[in-house]
Amino acid sequence: MTDESTLTEARPPVRHWPALDLPGSQFDPVLAELMAEGPVTRIQLPNGEGWAWLVTRYDDVRRVANDPRFSREAVMDKQVTRLAPHFIPDRGAVGFLDPPDHTRLRRSVAPAFTAKGVERVREKARVMLDELVAELVRGGPPADLTGAVLSPFPIAVICEVMGVPAGDRHSMHVWTQLILSSAHGKEVSERAKREMAAYFSDLIGLRENSTGEDVTSLLGAALGRGEVTLEQATGLAVLLQIGGEAVTANSGQLFYLLLTRPDLVERLRAEPGIRPQAIDELLRYIPHRNAVGLSRIALEDVGIGGVRIRAGDAVYISYLAANRDPEVFPDPDTIDFSRCPNPHVAFGFGPHYCPGGILARLEQELLTDALLDRLPGLRLAVPPDQVFFRKGALIRGPEALPVTW
Ligand code: HEM
Repeated sequence: MTDESTLTEARPPVRHWPALDLPGSQFDPVLAELMAEGPVTRIQLPNGEGWAWLVTRYDDVRRVANDPRFSREAVMDKQVTRLAPHFIPDRGAVGFLDPPDHTRLRRSVAPAFTAKGVERVREKARVMLDELVAELVRGGPPADLTGAVLSPFPIAVICEVMGVPAGDRHSMHVWTQLILSSAHGKEVSERAKREMAAYFSDLIGLRENSTGEDVTSLLGAALGRGEVTLEQATGLAVLLQIGGEAVTANSGQLFYLLLTRPDLVERLRAEPGIRPQAIDELLRYIPHRNAVGLSRIALEDVGIGGVRIRAGDAVYISYLAANRDPEVFPDPDTIDFSRCPNPHVAFGFGPHYCPGGILARLEQELLTDALLDRLPGLRLAVPPDQVFFRKGALIRGPEALPVTW
């Protein structure tokens, strides 16, 4: 509980947070400054209007994420300052719903993303990855690890989870690239999104009353029971399909870190048993995104970190900052595979936590096993500063990862 009498009405200065294209996995220096300034600061991002609060301490981040007085739905009616230039979220999209609508929508697909649900695709995923690695080996070095494995693998896996037939994987890949890239312009992205949505709308409609375990069958069944609308189901399917792509960028950073830190790779080769906890530590450490993601709006006055946030104010939380909070993670800038406990929030917290967390971990474990064990000499084919990272991207990762072995 916050003691009302200790809340400050003072407002820190508004800091401009430019969209930086940071090299490698460097922690954003602006975020580091904001964290040093205090637990709750004020920011202005390159797009949108006005300013927003920024909350960076672990406990405060989890409180805001889990407190219904901070609404996602209310963001829809505002032009909150933000990183993304073209940001026209669909009304009813999962990121912009509050409970109970949000809970109902997430519940409809939950079985596909539990440990048991994800286990359903493990063997198929391993076989698909084996094929990709075999093809990489056949082609011989040097190769682009992103293009050959880190991009096609998560797409193949998410298609399997979604119930998208193998023959349609290529279309999914093309649509996803166009939706997420700003290089072709807003029109092209919007068209790709409409085409993917039309595809899923048909597939879910066909699977109404289905008893299958894949996501489109689960959505079809929920539609049949009248729990979700076709529009909501389609919107969620598109976001889940695109979400699979996050694994490509995150694994790109993961392998970039491993291949530039021979001590880390040696330990993973010598002690395969620590790989799952090492992956968790890398997830904590990796700056997955640029700046901050989706804001929330305070529905009433709330005290956070000693500051009074007023009803109507926009608030961002930074999971990246929370993952470097020294109160929770001693020596937070060090990658420590023995870190225990490691309650990181790389997949978020509260009702909007990432549904793909268990799936992403499974994919990263399979990738680490396959690439470290089958390619013992795997290393970068260029100096680290010649690995170029995506420019102007919301999610950070290498454009290509040139490797040899
Ligand atoms: C390493 C890979 C990934 C990371 C680091 C990651 C991280 C995150 C984070 C931090 C959030 C935001 C939580 C919040 O708003 O409070 C999120 C949301 C989301 N993620 Fe992921 N994610 C990853 C992979 C995936 C995958 C594989 C999928 C698809 C299965 C996915 C689908 C989504 C969706 C649909 C949301 C929105 C959830 C909601 O608003 O209820 N993500 N993710």
